[in-house]
Amino acid sequence: MLRTHTCGQLRKEHVGTEVTLCGWVESKRDHGGAVFIDLRDRYGLTQVVVGPPEAGEALIAEAGRVPMESVVLIRGVVADRLEGKTNSKLATGDIEVRSVHFEILNPCATPPFTPGQSDLPGEDLRLKYRFLDLRRPAMLRAMVLRSKIVKTMRDYFAEHDFIDVETPILGRSTPEGARDYLVPSRVHAGKFYALPQSPQLYKQILMVAGFDRYIQVAKCFRDEDLRADRQPEFTQLDLEMSFVDHEDIIGLIDGLVARTAEEILGKKVTLPLPRMTYEESMRRFGHDAPDLRFAMEIVDVTPVAAKTEFRVFRGTADAGNFVRGITVKDAATKYSRRQIDELTEYVKNDFGAKGLAWFRVEDDGTLWSPISKNLEAEHLAEIKELMSGQPGDLLMFLADTWEVTCKGLAGLRKRLAGELGLIDPDELNCSWVTEFPMFEKDEETGNWHAMHHPFTAPLASDLSLLESSPEKCRAQAYDLVINGSEAGGGTIRIHDAATQSKVFDLLGIDEATAEDRFGFLLNALKYGAPPHGGIALGIDRWVMLIAGLDNIREVIAFPKTQKASDLMTEAPGNVDADQLTELHLRTAKSAK
Ligand code: AMO
Ligand code: AMP
Repeated sequence: MLRTHTCGQLRKEHVGTEVTLCGWVESKRDHGGAVFIDLRDRYGLTQVVVGPPEAGEALIAEAGRVPMESVVLIRGVVADRLEGKTNSKLATGDIEVRSVHFEILNPCATPPFTPGQSDLPGEDLRLKYRFLDLRRPAMLRAMVLRSKIVKTMRDYFAEHDFIDVETPILGRSTPEGARDYLVPSRVHAGKFYALPQSPQLYKQILMVAGFDRYIQVAKCFRDEDLRADRQPEFTQLDLEMSFVDHEDIIGLIDGLVARTAEEILGKKVTLPLPRMTYEESMRRFGHDAPDLRFAMEIVDVTPVAAKTEFRVFRGTADAGNFVRGITVKDAATKYSRRQIDELTEYVKNDFGAKGLAWFRVEDDGTLWSPISKNLEAEHLAEIKELMSGQPGDLLMFLADTWEVTCKGLAGLRKRLAGELGLIDPDELNCSWVTEFPMFEKDEETGNWHAMHHPFTAPLASDLSLLESSPEKCRAQAYDLVINGSEAGGGTIRIHDAATQSKVFDLLGIDEATAEDRFGFLLNALKYGAPPHGGIALGIDRWVMLIAGLDNIREVIAFPKTQKASDLMTEAPGNVDADQLTELHLRTAKSAK
């Protein structure tokens, strides 16, 4: 070992001991012939003094010249800091090390930014110099948190008899609904592997193999539009179990949530976690991952709207659509006309709403709005009643299709809660959404899609709806929601051939296509498949939410940008023409 201690270790009790420390030069101050260096490593920061009488002039001069962020080794004696110079914010703040030997192990080139600087550089620069960025305490904390969360998960599942199995990265396309990342085969001209969007098919086959309980910390690859909570390559805690129903899986994950909250945050979570059906979630919150940290529930006032003479309300109700709204508590004076106009533009541009109708609840309890003259007092009173409006509240409504009212009001809820500071940053709010629809219709093509994936089992009570009204058929599906984000999702699977082929029929997957895409799974299911189901938790999202961050890139060591590039390695990159030839490929550019 080059060192005797780390930079976070020395205390008063070490005074008088000779130590050797290694680390990076975080900062350097010249004070009348002595150089003070803050030496940093993963474990902390120690103040080193290179000065007389311990150090001679040559050593002091060398320390004075050391570039910031260089790696140095120092040998010296631990001493009490001078009176008034102790630092109670630092674990090592009572002592300093008086250097008798100072050696630059590796000088640092001029860094574009330093981990110790108070203003954070732009994210592109941070990603390009990720090795410097990862030296920042916040990044280190996030990575340590991530490591602890994964350990808690692994421990928990090991205690519950799960077997950790690795599944292939080079495989066939998996049905999670995103675009695949493809890998050309050199040996099989014109053929491609697909990187797994999840280990879904393999884990089901492990159940056929009788493994009973499988987990994996699995890398998944999805070529989809990226957002703050999505990466093209991300990590799941993936699991599958045999002879279980949805209660078993939800109960198991409830236990994991409580365990994680306790071990990582020292928080008690009350079990069972609250549950809501998809239908209820859309009705009350307009979203399938509702943020339950604040109320502002959606209320349907269509029956009153239908009675009014206001063209927008009445017309919407007559067309079989909806007038739904939210009550924003005590917000009447907080939003000016101009700010409400901005909200109107927001719901129009982002969600395709046609406008935003709003009312202030006045001190006398009446509703006021530019449109209130179009409504009779009696109807206004009914609306206020339904919305539980109190003086000072702001009521906001969208008159539109069910989908637009859901999306628009969910968007408003989220935005207003943020603007009004309704969210407690320390809260960890976990719940389940269950009974998702089996299918959703593609608006453009009119085709049905599996809302989760095509191996999801319908609710037993809805089996007959599979043929008569597929849009009403609900799935044995469940999503874990943390602070308004989808933190996990799973289903009970179909394990009989008849139901599976009905679902394929509906999805327009003919026998030949099914055989080509998932033949190996369908084949395996014929050889004694037990009833089974599972779930996958988004580890990156868990860490992000537990850390209270809103950007997934802050909890991934080497993330990709919104454009799916790695700024440090400059991936994706060019390849040699020879490599392409070997892979039997020509790019469109070279073909021209
Ligand atoms: P699903 O597609 O719902 O289910 O994914 C499970 C969880 O993975 C996380 N997640 C992501 N995290 C970061 N970036 C992404 N691009 C991304 N996509 C998904 C989410 C999500 O809840 N095989 C099924 C699971 C099963 O049925 O057992 C699956 O992959 O937190
Ligand atoms: P208009 O008569 O179109 O000028 O609309 C009058 C008011 O109703 C404006 O404040 C609009 O923003 C609002 N509005 C118009 N259409 C809708 C709608 N579909 N839903 C909610 N409010 C609307």
